[in-house]
Amino acid sequence: MRVTQAPFFDALIRMFDDATRAGWHECHGGNLSYRLSAADVSAVSEELSPIGDWLPIGLRVPGLAGEKLLVTAAGQIFRNTSRDPEGSLGILEISEDGANYRVLWGYAGGGRPTSELAAHLANHEVIKRRSAGRLRLVYHAHPENLIALSFVLPLDEVVFTRELWEMMPECAMIFPAGIGVVPWMVPGTPEIARATMEKVEEFDLILWAQHGVFAVGENPDACFGMVETAEKAAAILLKVLSCVPQKRQAPGTQDLRELAQVFRLPLKDKFL
Ligand code: 13P
Ligand code: ZN
Repeated sequence: MRVTQAPFFDALIRMFDDATRAGWHECHGGNLSYRLSAADVSAVSEELSPIGDWLPIGLRVPGLAGEKLLVTAAGQIFRNTSRDPEGSLGILEISEDGANYRVLWGYAGGGRPTSELAAHLANHEVIKRRSAGRLRLVYHAHPENLIALSFVLPLDEVVFTRELWEMMPECAMIFPAGIGVVPWMVPGTPEIARATMEKVEEFDLILWAQHGVFAVGENPDACFGMVETAEKAAAILLKVLSCVPQKRQAPGTQDLRELAQVFRLPLKDKFL
């Protein structure tokens, strides 16, 4: 089967289109990576063969040895992805020592993986271990309301989590671990990759202050839905804060505890 005909590919293309329409991907903003399952790899194996040499990742990810990942190209325009998948995307293989990668498909026209490759692979290594392989998708977007909040709220995970959870009950249901916060750092560096890697031990959703978010999940619906939910909550909060300096009323700690009890949510005490 051709890569562009595989079911996993179809689900990702839908996500690129939906995320573009949501307005989270100005120009080349944002990137995505998906760790293929054994079934995905065998479905598209006829099209996977090494193109070029092994290249350094910039950090070591031995937990991903031999894994194959679909990764957006650097400078890829999100809105063009569905029209030009082979120029916008590539499939990589990770070397046995976890230090290098080589391209097996895509990046037509001489492209290369996203400038955030190190952050994506570092996140994959952590989430593969912590979820026993269940989590396969790492997604980076630039949603405007969450970015705006990072200029307004203190860069404190307890404050961000609690404020977003208060906006609507879905927030605690969809990101029950809360939201991690990484301060502003230069994009595309090993430093921001390492800072994100530490956060993804605990969180599925991480804010990069004054830049965007990283979300990890099982599939496109989980990742897209998490960003969509947090972004909507951020929009509500900004509306509230632009009307009144102090909220007149909001769900309290006891309300959130009851929500957690009814929906069996593992909400941590530090956020309540
Ligand atoms: P890339 O085009 O290299 O993926 O970069 C986009 C981005 O959002 C960097 O943080
Ligand atoms: Zn970005």
